[in-house]
Amino acid sequence: MTIRARITGLGKYNPERVLTNADLERMVETSDTWIQERTGVRERRIAADDETCSTLSYRAALQALEQAGVAPEELDLIIVATCSPDGMLPSVASYVQQQLGASRAAAFDINATCVGFLTAVATASQFIETGTYKKVLVIGAEVLSRIIDWTDRVTCVLFGDGAGAVVLEASDHGGALSFVLHSDGTGARALYAHGPAARPSDGGTKALTPRPTTLDPAACFYVQMDGKAIFKFAVQAMEQATREALAAANLTIDDIDLLVPHQANLRIIDATAKRLSLPMERAMVNVDRYGNTSAASIPMALREAFEEDRLHDGDTVVLVAFGGGLVWGAMVLEWAPVGKQRVAEAAHAATGGS
Ligand code: ACO
Repeated sequence: MTIRARITGLGKYNPERVLTNADLERMVETSDTWIQERTGVRERRIAADDETCSTLSYRAALQALEQAGVAPEELDLIIVATCSPDGMLPSVASYVQQQLGASRAAAFDINATCVGFLTAVATASQFIETGTYKKVLVIGAEVLSRIIDWTDRVTCVLFGDGAGAVVLEASDHGGALSFVLHSDGTGARALYAHGPAARPSDGGTKALTPRPTTLDPAACFYVQMDGKAIFKFAVQAMEQATREALAAANLTIDDIDLLVPHQANLRIIDATAKRLSLPMERAMVNVDRYGNTSAASIPMALREAFEEDRLHDGDTVVLVAFGGGLVWGAMVLEWAPVGKQRVAEAAHAATGGS
């Protein structure tokens, strides 16, 4: 019997505040038409002042745990994937553990930018497949609005805030069949943001001197991006990773029931689907409503796919992402029921399938 990491609960949380393209038209020199044509984004969510990566994570986690029917005390491990944490330390996962009261769980964060969620699920699946842990909570959460320069029209139209979560459990039915993860650090400067521990000359704060009150946007924590370079890289990376992960699972493009790509730009998703000869109806898209939420985008899209009844027992679901690093990767899942459907499955098994 092969034990795999299976998603048994899905959750998401989106901050209430909606920032539309019309709002952005009043902030920078841009237009709704330009943003929709170049990115497919219509609106994005922005965290409230009292929200952080950990509070968004907590809300998404509650929904996933409830659906899985797993109590926080049952968790063995919590992993949060993010590149916009509450602070440098402790980890966001530690805050989430405290908020949930998940007293038995180990906790740590992963930063693999937009591939963070995929990387965290791949990590969790190793703990589960070796029998080390049985129940793991994986969250992808971002408050990117706090590391965006809202006067830079090139980046500010793209990103948004949000969180998605999954509960992974050891199971002999469905689960993660394969994954591939790649990195090319030579492209690090195509997409980056400094932090407080950067060289002071790069915008990092000096420990022994007061923090500067006015920071030069070009030399502080804001996201800097070479959009064209990222676009070119993204399309070929998503295609390559999808093909590799499918091959590792002995499957082909035709087997894909649902592709859940990182939601960065509708044109990138469209171009990826074309390169794979996959009809767009088999790709999940919600970038129009949330923009690019980095590590949160795939778990949020997965939860919405569930709500739209696009995930069925036995389906082949491919998750694929690219991001700053540069990093890219994909994972193939054999979908198995979650929530109420899972309870029905258990009852069916208990009666011997009659
Ligand atoms: N509104 C209006 N005009 C704009 C805007 C804007 N918001 N932004 C740029 N422009 C202008 C440019 O200045 C340029 O003007 P010019 O021709 O006079 O010089 C023109 O529009 C075209 O700009 P391009 O950069 O060529 O536009 P492009 O078609 O490449 O689209 C975009 C830009 C949307 C950023 C695209 O390159 C892209 O999506 N790249 C990928 C970005 C991405 O996915 N990043 C996230 C990675 S994931 C992660 O790790 C977080």
